[in-house]
Amino acid sequence: MKSVFPIEKFRGLQTPFYYYNTGLLRETLALVRGEADKYGYRIHYAVKANANPRILTIIRENGLGADCVSGGEIRACLDAGFPADKVVFAGVGKADWEIDLGLDNDIFCFNAESAAELVVINERAGLKGKVAPVALRINPEVDAHTHAYITTGLKENKFGINLSQLEGVLDLLEGLKCVRLIGLHFHIGSQITDLSAFQGLCARVNEIQVSLFRRHLIVPNLNFGGGLGIDYEHPDRLAIPDFGAYFAIFHKHVALRPSQVVHFEPGRSIVGQCGSLITKVLYVKEGSYKKFAVLDAGFTELIRPAFYQAYHKMENLTSEGPLVRYDVVGPICESSDCFGKEVELNEVCRGDLIAIRSAGAYGEIMASQYNCRRLPVGYFSDTL
Ligand code: LLP
Repeated sequence: MKSVFPIEKFRGLQTPFYYYNTGLLRETLALVRGEADKYGYRIHYAVKANANPRILTIIRENGLGADCVSGGEIRACLDAGFPADKVVFAGVGKADWEIDLGLDNDIFCFNAESAAELVVINERAGLKGKVAPVALRINPEVDAHTHAYITTGLKENKFGINLSQLEGVLDLLEGLKCVRLIGLHFHIGSQITDLSAFQGLCARVNEIQVSLFRRHLIVPNLNFGGGLGIDYEHPDRLAIPDFGAYFAIFHKHVALRPSQVVHFEPGRSIVGQCGSLITKVLYVKEGSYKKFAVLDAGFTELIRPAFYQAYHKMENLTSEGPLVRYDVVGPICESSDCFGKEVELNEVCRGDLIAIRSAGAYGEIMASQYNCRRLPVGYFSDTL
């Protein structure tokens, strides 16, 4: 069955562009809030997934906080009206000006990733006569069973403080007077569909809490990061991920200390399914043994297939013709500029509109201007 898109409205627009179904976004937000509220969990949307100002505004209106990884993201969130006390700031390479921006705006928490960073945050806070709230991002050494490029919680990854160094960092913290330890932070990876990985994370966090307790330490906040995957094969079947099952794992398996607050940082699961890249067929090229559908979008608009070998479902919105196999490619001068090989589409003609689905997360935000191309524009279902 074909998905429902306002094709007549699309015809007047210059392709390629992103199209966002704001109804679906709002439903997703209502559901994630409802499920999180059952346990008092706090949600900080991972801005890296999509920082389109309208998307940020809708997310902020629904009461979520923001997880930022750069000064630019902090600014984008403040511009979209997020209260600073709902902003957390992670990243292995926070520059001094970015730390200052967080301090000046009194953000909720710095998720610190190394001893060296803690020393710098302490210094910058001291210069301002402030005490910076920090959580230690710990590398939990839990395998997320996802693509290597988006696995973050293994010993060899650059993220977080290694478990073996935690005691040393806690010793260091005792001497740093301008930082205050308010939490622990974890993130094991992205596009995780095997939920048992999160169970492994819970077990590791319980062990860490025990070792902290030996030092009479109970932190008020535990942040489990993001990572819940979406169904790229069937974007319409489970358009809203099963947040209920996801939170239930943490509720069941984390041994919380009294009055500890649990936080999450979902990105993809919030915005992934509400966005599609709409592109036009420029040419159908008959190779010697293959047919190519050449689109006006390339990896400059959506890099995930080229970069992670990611699958995105494609639909020909303007043809009911028989199914034919194509290699679907873009116009960029690189062989990796291919959205899929041997993809079945309703027979394609020049001018047909193709929807590349599940592109709301890590789509528009990862666009580039390679080949001097213009950045794609986003349109929204409720204002088109
Ligand atoms: N928190 C932290 C610390 C993260 O590093 C990430 C993602 C998230 C939260 C959000 O994860 P999500 O819920 O979206 O899985 N560009 C890649 C994904 C990179 C994810 C990086 N970190 C892709 O297109 O698949």
